[in-house]
Amino acid sequence: MKSSRLVFIVAVLLAVLAVALSFSTAPNAISKKEVALRLPKNFPKPFYDFKSNPITPEGFTLGRALFYDPILSQDSTISCASCHQPFAAFAHIDHKLSHGIDNRIGTRNVPALQNLIWKDDFMWDGGVNHLEVQPINPITSKDEMNESLKNVLTKLHRSQHYKAYFKSAFKDSTITTQRLFKALAQFTGLMVSANSKYDQYLRKEVQLTEMEQKGLLLFNQKCNSCHTAPLFTNNAFANNGLPPDTALNDLGRGKITGKKEDDFLFKIPSLRNVEVTYPYMHDGRFSKLSQVLNHYSHTSGSANNEPLKNIGTLSDDEKVELTAFLKTLTDKTFLTDKRFVIIQSPSGMR
Ligand code: HEC
Ligand code: HEC
Repeated sequence: MKSSRLVFIVAVLLAVLAVALSFSTAPNAISKKEVALRLPKNFPKPFYDFKSNPITPEGFTLGRALFYDPILSQDSTISCASCHQPFAAFAHIDHKLSHGIDNRIGTRNVPALQNLIWKDDFMWDGGVNHLEVQPINPITSKDEMNESLKNVLTKLHRSQHYKAYFKSAFKDSTITTQRLFKALAQFTGLMVSANSKYDQYLRKEVQLTEMEQKGLLLFNQKCNSCHTAPLFTNNAFANNGLPPDTALNDLGRGKITGKKEDDFLFKIPSLRNVEVTYPYMHDGRFSKLSQVLNHYSHTSGSANNEPLKNIGTLSDDEKVELTAFLKTLTDKTFLTDKRFVIIQSPSGMR
């Protein structure tokens, strides 16, 4: 009798302990330290200023929940993460062109999301110039999420979970588009990639192989003027010699500025994590780095700008060396960073 009571008490205690533990190790809990922004020493000053939107664990957690939640789309099928996949540096590897609601195919390849606070304009054509307003585009685009901001707010208001999330992030439970965008910017703005083998090499923590060293030299001679280290973009727009796709007829920068001379210029993409962000180019026309290098090797002869002409024909050895170097830009810490992955299904929030 006595021993069975003891067993009962121990069982109750164990159950209480288990519940307490499951709270303290909530799968998505994040600490203040984990959301502290660490600016890499060799990076320039960022464009986005977190002063007007300080990152907090609660704001970041809300941003992450929104990023992974299909509630932002009209029929609750597409989330930001449907197109921006963490293991691909938040690019999308299954489709050349973006793949949205009702299987609609967009007109552009999904770019990686990384080091966004160092960008002065966004999208392949620079059509958006502030990180906080960027989500309007995917939410309202008919080929992406096809939803109105008004409906998004209505849906979020209906959810007790989101009310609580907004309250903990912004001190009261008012849900506004501005707060929605600020929370998303806390999440996407913290996506910093600065721990690739190349970065470790700069910090003298590892050495490059002879092949990678040769690739780095070639890169500095032929690519760095556009894909400028350490961000691997100079943030400008350029024509890299791709023949326009006549079906898409994408004018790129020219569509935004209306200037003829800007036609077929595209934002120079960062090459960080390029090993995993295939397919490549604004229209995803290449699926392999070898195709990209063949393109540069073939077009430089007829190029109309100096940096492209300067590339010249690449020998097979040079292609192998350049590829080896490009792979040193893969940042496993970033690609597997648990802060950016949601473990609990966000649909449980509704
Ligand atoms: C249907 C696929 C799709 C969905 C859903 C989607 N995106 Fe995108 N995203 C894209 C494409 C395609 C681009 C490039 C668009 C362009 O250049 O016109 C892009 C561009 C971006 C950029 C600019 C990156 C850069 O370097 O210029 C950011 C930031 C971004 N998306 C964040 C988000 C957020 C936040 C959400 C959710 C609210 C979201 N995306 C939903 C496909 C998608
Ligand atoms: C004149 C500037 C310029 C030079 C020089 C240049 N690039 Fe590019 N690169 C671009 C532009 C612009 C794009 C995007 C073009 C588009 O999508 O239409 C691009 C795209 C790429 C991409 C695809 C990235 C992605 O995420 O889709 C790779 C890879 C790349 N370049 C590698 C290189 C290498 C390697 C060199 C040197 C051999 C080089 N580039 C030289 C301007 C340049």
